[in-house]
Amino acid sequence: MEKIVKEIERLREDIRHHNRRYYVMDDPEISDAEYDRLFKRLMELEGRFPDLITEDSPTQRVGIRPEKAFAEVRHHVPMLSLENAFDDQDILDFDARNRRFLKDDTPIEYTVEPKIDGLAVELVYEYGMLRRASTRGDGNIGEEVTSNVKTIFSVPLKLLPIRKEIVIPDLLEVRGEVYMETKAFESLNRDRMAHDLPVFANPRNGAAGSLRQLDPRISAKRPLNIFCYGIGRVNGLEYATQYELMVAIQQLGLRVNRPHIHLCRSIDEVIAYCHRLEEERDSFPFEIDGAVIKVNRLALQAALGEKSRSPRWALAYKFKPSQEITKIVKIDVQVGRTGVLTPVAQLEPVEIGGVWVKRATLHNQEEIRKKDIRELDTVVVQRAGDVIPEVVKVIESKRTGEERRFEFPRSCPVCGGEVQKKEEEVALRCINPGCPAQVKESFRHFVSKGAMNIDGLGDKIISQLLEKDMVQVEADLYYLTREDLLRLDKIENKSATNLLQSIEESKKTTLSRFIFALGIRHVGAHVARLLADHYQKLDLFMRANRDELLTIKGIGKEIAESITDYLKNRTNRLNIERLLDAGIQIEGTPYVSGSPISGKTFVITGSLRSMKRAGAEERIVAKGGRLASTVTAGTDYLVVGESPGSKMAKAEASGVSILSEGEFLALIE
Ligand code: IVH
Repeated sequence: MEKIVKEIERLREDIRHHNRRYYVMDDPEISDAEYDRLFKRLMELEGRFPDLITEDSPTQRVGIRPEKAFAEVRHHVPMLSLENAFDDQDILDFDARNRRFLKDDTPIEYTVEPKIDGLAVELVYEYGMLRRASTRGDGNIGEEVTSNVKTIFSVPLKLLPIRKEIVIPDLLEVRGEVYMETKAFESLNRDRMAHDLPVFANPRNGAAGSLRQLDPRISAKRPLNIFCYGIGRVNGLEYATQYELMVAIQQLGLRVNRPHIHLCRSIDEVIAYCHRLEEERDSFPFEIDGAVIKVNRLALQAALGEKSRSPRWALAYKFKPSQEITKIVKIDVQVGRTGVLTPVAQLEPVEIGGVWVKRATLHNQEEIRKKDIRELDTVVVQRAGDVIPEVVKVIESKRTGEERRFEFPRSCPVCGGEVQKKEEEVALRCINPGCPAQVKESFRHFVSKGAMNIDGLGDKIISQLLEKDMVQVEADLYYLTREDLLRLDKIENKSATNLLQSIEESKKTTLSRFIFALGIRHVGAHVARLLADHYQKLDLFMRANRDELLTIKGIGKEIAESITDYLKNRTNRLNIERLLDAGIQIEGTPYVSGSPISGKTFVITGSLRSMKRAGAEERIVAKGGRLASTVTAGTDYLVVGESPGSKMAKAEASGVSILSEGEFLALIE
């Protein structure tokens, strides 16, 4: 029995450690399969010995009882809100006010961090154990949401210091923002739409709705996450600044938005960083609606104190809104590269976050039906990042009776051909591969920046080339002559020269761009990179088979089948051959001369002592090596760290060279 207890404890420690690596640090050390194995073993032991189950066991995240209603929780230290700033002057005023208040004119240090668009919660840890979680509520009284918060994997059920010397505080009330990543939010809404449920208007509502679910089994299915940004009561933690506090709570295993928390020595730096965040807001995987500025020194925070609802030492700089209200003039249907019919709303132009928006996607006919969108409706339009603006909802109170319901076309609006809907899809597709719209979109994709990057080959030229039948497949672009180009409208000598030069320059490309340019369904820029990293050479990629594709991390059945279908098609292969004949040159991975690992494939298992896994991978690639996630016959080396997984046995069985960390270091040095 003692042995069992020991094993259970060991498993829990390991799982906590790997949870942190995966969910808090985004830097896993073991594969999902290895993790699953640990988890399954723990479940099995706890199933056999239920008396040994503890509240903080990693298996206890998903409670089974739906709550009856949420209990009220009083916050010992009120959860305040923030005063808003809308421009640089407001930030300067805030700083000036602080220095006046402190009667000291020396520059104040501030931290600046993204303001996450989610909902505030408080987590109470007593002697390192998560005891209670609650929403902000009115700031004094919130609702208890402990079982729902426990389903968030980045919330430790038990604090786990990153080093042994770090002491766990007796009491720690941590505050943070629970949010839903934009992608997760979109997939949640797609799912809700498919089940005839109302969609959430934005990720914040999605997060709030999920956290306030009475049934934690449902919240467990909603991918929520947290960033911790502050504290309430605390007993037994040392820090003198806001920044040190963030480091301290991170070292206890809590998730902190560290890379984006900036320490600024002057108010000018603060303003500059706020602008930078605003510019970069679209590159975050979650929505941010502003930047939070905090006085760094706690002594100064204390001296500044607070007003009734907000502290004097903090300020929220709000970004320009990304939603506006406008009117739909008309609804059009566009045909995309893969034949998908997409309804698009033509709008009365409206400025959203500094950009004029004239069109918004309506996604598909289902969306139009669910949201009951009609021509001439007044609607809320949202622009989130580089994604296409979309219609969030109709403002029904603005209806006049003149609005027109939209009839979805029964045939392709471009070629008049048949449209079909696959059972598992919502979209209608034009199934004519020769449909001019599809062909044109394929060309646009082919020449686009992330693909072959042919500068100067815009929409108008592509249309003319197609209309005049000067090109049929992408490869034809490389056989165009000056005389051909001069036959086009609005092209004189100079632009013909430039265009010929861009076409010529585009011939030098990389494997991942080339694969992306082919426009294989489900192969976006990211998947193209995975494929290029794996195959390294075009001819190897062209011989890809389903089983091998499935060994690549990030490639599933649907993608693998789409690739093999594409490669089986004769026309596609001919197009590739013609492209190569035209002189396309694909740069390979640089051969690193003198490097013993140039061209060799590595798999890493277990954790390395001297460096992070990402660091090891970087060094392998820099020395001309390749990376893979699973051991196959093509693997040259398996690097084995501490607590290796099942890969070790597989490598042994297939005769792959096994390297210890020391041997690996010696090899790459
Ligand atoms: S600090 C007393 N930091 O914004 C200071 N708040 O309007 C408390 N929020 O209720 C807030 N990201 O829900 C802080 N990095 C961040 C934040 C953040 C989002 C939210 C929080 C708060 C609201 C204030």
